[in-house]
Order: sequence, then C-alpha cells, then structure tokens
Amino acid sequence: MKNLRKINTNKQAFNTLPDKEKIRILATVTSWAPSSHNTQPWHFYVGNNKIRISPDFTKSLPIGDKNHRQLYISLGAAVANTCMAADCLGLSYKKKYLEKNSIFSIEIFFENLQANSFNNQLWQALSTRHSNRLKLLKQNFNQEYSKKILGLVNSEVNIHFVQEEIQKKQLKNIVEEALESSFNNKKFRYELSHWIKPSLSKYSEGMTGYYLGVPWIISFVMPWVIKKFNISKMQKKMHLKWIDSAPVIGIITGKNDDIKSWIQAGEFFGLIATLAEELKIRTGVMAAPIESAYGRKQLQALLNTREHPLIFFRQGFGPAEKHFSPRRPLDKLITYELCT
Ligand SMILES: Cc1cc2nc3c(=O)[nH]c(=O)nc-3n(C[C@H](O)[C@H](O)[C@H](O)COP(=O)(O)O)c2cc1C
Repeated sequence: MKNLRKINTNKQAFNTLPDKEKIRILATVTSWAPSSHNTQPWHFYVGNNKIRISPDFTKSLPIGDKNHRQLYISLGAAVANTCMAADCLGLSYKKKYLEKNSIFSIEIFFENLQANSFNNQLWQALSTRHSNRLKLLKQNFNQEYSKKILGLVNSEVNIHFVQEEIQKKQLKNIVEEALESSFNNKKFRYELSHWIKPSLSKYSEGMTGYYLGVPWIISFVMPWVIKKFNISKMQKKMHLKWIDSAPVIGIITGKNDDIKSWIQAGEFFGLIATLAEELKIRTGVMAAPIESAYGRKQLQALLNTREHPLIFFRQGFGPAEKHFSPRRPLDKLITYELCT
C-alpha cells in the first residue's frame, strides 16, 4: 500500500498553477488531518481565495461523541493542516471562527496565493503524519521538541506532559475505567463496528484492517465481532500496552470546555502531531478518557488543574506504520462558491 497522500510541489511549481488548483492543493492537505474513527467529519466551501471548513454532521458519532466534541477537535486538526500548508508556502492568511445557530465553521482567507517560500520538511511531515498504534521506543525526546511545543501554548489551550511512572499508572486506571464503560455499551460497539472496515481499497473512510494491523482475512469478520462481543478486555490490554511503551503522555487542556475550545485544542493537537512527525516522533490519540466525564474529572485531579482536559495522546519515537488510513476523494468534500 503506497502513501496516497502526496503532492509533489515547490514554490515555483505552485506559482504556475491557476488559483482554483492552488486552493484544491490546500484543501487536499486539509483532508489529510486526523479525525475520530477516520470519519472525516468536514466539508470545504471554497472560493477563489478562501476555504471554509464546516462540520459534516452526517459523519457524526451520536453514541461515541454525543456532544460533537471529537467532531470539532477533528475540525480543528483540519484547520491546523490548512494553516501549516499555507505556512509551508509562505502564504499570508487570516483565520475567522464563524458561528450560526451554535454550529461553528472556520474560514481561512488567503491574502493572495503567490507562494513566497517552500518548507519541504514540514510539507513532507504533513503528508506522512499518521496515528500510531505500534509499540513506541523508551527513548526520551530532546529538550528542543518539548520547548518548541511549550512555546506554542496560548491563552486558550495548554499542554501537560506526563512522564513519571507513578502518574502513568494512574492514567492507566483512568483509561481502563473509561474503556470498560464505553465497550460495555452495546450501542457504542454497534456504532464503532460501522467504522471498522475490511481491508479493501474501495473504502475511503473509517478504519480499514490493514491500517489497524489486522490480518486481511480477519478484517472481514472484525466489524461483526465488535458488534456481537464485548471486547473491552482486549481493548484494555491493547491500550495499556500502548501507554506502557510511550515515554510521554500528552494532555491538552483548555480554559473552557465549549465548541470553540474543542476546535482550538484540535488545531493545537494537529500542529503538535505534525511537528512531532517532522522529528519521527509518533503520536496516537485516545478519546475514551476524555469522552468520560468521570475520566476528565480524574485527569483534572491528577494534573492538579482547573483547566479542562480536551485531548489525550501518547508520543514517542517508533517505526512508521506500514499503511496509511484512507481519505474520501476531494470532490466529495468540496463545494465551490463563486469560484472562477
Ligand atoms: C479527535 C480524535 C479522536 C481520536 N480517537 C482515537 C482513539 O480513541 N483511538 C485511536 O486508536 N485513534 C484515535 N484517533 C485517531 C484516528 O483514528 C485517526 O486520526 C484516523 O483513523 C485517521 O488516521 P490518521 O491519523 O493515521 O491519518 C483519534 C483522532 C482524533 C482526531
């Protein structure tokens, strides 16, 4: 399986393209963002010099993500990709949060589409960033990376890195409890089973077997197994192993716990995951401890903070996954608005 997320460009090549094609490139990079269950819950409304990223509620998870927290975090990660792609090309842009009837969209308006530079390293990282589900190495990061990330903290979002074994043990208890409660819920398993797909190239969303490291033949029965059986024991074992192998657990917290904060946390996470990828540091999210109100409370106590835990992830050096998750074709994601 080759990496389908690839756009060969540079400053000169980009500048020879018509604006519509330039916007399509930026939208393509946007679509490479991570999303919960790989639902890709976004739609792009594009104009000559803008991309508006809006939620696609047909891809929401009514059981696993009742209040759309994970959906909006995913949208934030998509925004981060648009902005990083623009940064790679040295494009100036303005970002605006739009709200109508409690539905949020984010508009990125480009002052012009003339590339002024090209950051090949970041561009490559955008195309190779992927979620990690493999064992990580016990190797610590250099200070540079942590310093860089801590330097990105702003008034809305903060980050906590947990490295001490005692705290990690507490985190494992929190994750175990949260997983138990999710997987005990038949409706949750039923919903998840729809997003677990056999290893066939026809699937452009969800988590295909090859991406999850499941043998080809097993991938065909996996959705059925998840639907029929309570696999919480297996899930807990897998997640605890993931935490054990990770030198660092990151928890993004927010001043608030509302839609805009979820988007901003997603933006922060997207940036962190891509900057990490530049250094071959792998990242894997775990939504369960955040989706549980009790989990969030316990995380607050553990971090000794009144800020709201919004994203829980593990990081460390490790091998790249062999397969990339699929994406929906761009034409299914885009609506053109007044585009010439
Ligand atoms: C908000 C959010 C929640 C996620 N939750 C989980 C999770 O609980 N467990 C997991 O293994 N992956 C999780 N992921 C990773 C997604 O499954 C992954 O981003 C998606 O399948 C696309 O794959 P990629 O990140 O490799 O491009 C999450 C990602 C996001 C953005």
